[in-house]
Amino acid sequence: MRNKIRAGLLAALIFAPAFALSPASHAQDRAPEAPAPSTPALPPVDRADEKSLKSVADFDDIADQKERSIAIFQETGKVLLHPRCVNCHPAGDRPLQGMDMHLHQPPVRRGDANFGEPGMMCNTCHGPANVPVVAQSENIQSIPGNPNWHLAPIEMAWQGRSLGDICRQIKDEDRNGGKTLAELVDHMADDDLVGWGWHPGKGREPVPGTQKQFGELYKAWAATGAHCPDS
Ligand code: HEC
Ligand code: HEC
Repeated sequence: MRNKIRAGLLAALIFAPAFALSPASHAQDRAPEAPAPSTPALPPVDRADEKSLKSVADFDDIADQKERSIAIFQETGKVLLHPRCVNCHPAGDRPLQGMDMHLHQPPVRRGDANFGEPGMMCNTCHGPANVPVVAQSENIQSIPGNPNWHLAPIEMAWQGRSLGDICRQIKDEDRNGGKTLAELVDHMADDDLVGWGWHPGKGREPVPGTQKQFGELYKAWAATGAHCPDS
């Protein structure tokens, strides 16, 4: 109950200024801070296929181990390149929102530690769990939440990068927060913030499959040599 009241107040604070913006200044706000996201390096898939993940066994018929490893990684790309993940792994200072990955409204910045700036910290609005809001604008039905809600550091930016580049980057201990391959696999399989992608709150499309399936694909990818697609 208290949460709902808080969310209602916040929503009123948040959405009023957004509405006051003219369409022109809004458009300017989406301007070139970060490169446009590239087209996913995946073969075309139909909508139904995009919402589910293949299982490890589906790749058994690829005899060549390196090819199998790459194909498995490409399947996980349906999650990695999804806006639910990329919105928090932006190439600029501001988080992104929505399926169209527009710049976060209101205009918050990552700050020194990626938790926001004094007076506009992420947890001013993002609580420990998703909170439904009474719809005050067309689309927003909830505010996302997690106890650890903050922006991925700039060296972990995925926005605008190809799947192959993201693959090389997440394996690179200098750019992945010092994770070994085993720790990276565990992060994918168990991390709570990653898990939010499958439970993003009312009005938001979850990433495909389940986190369990996703974790199994990563284990299989590591076991087959953790190879990356060229692009
Ligand atoms: C609320 C913001 C947020 C969301 C949403 C988010 N991440 Fe992250 N991610 C972070 C932060 C912060 C870190 C760095 C701190 C850490 O390791 O926990 C990170 C780090 C990572 C890393 C470590 C390696 C690296 O180079 O990036 C992986 C892998 C990762 N996230 C995967 C994902 C996936 C997959 C999704 C979507 C299902 C996702 N994240 C969604 C904030 C987010
Ligand atoms: C003044 C309130 C406020 C602050 C501060 C704030 N946010 Fe948000 N944020 C929101 C609201 C409201 C939404 C939901 C809007 C929507 O879904 O379009 C949202 C949505 C998001 C999303 C979109 C999730 C998705 O996939 O569509 C991300 C990512 C995000 N915020 C990250 C952050 C980060 C990181 C910070 C701190 C640097 C932050 N926010 C600070 C209010 C805030």
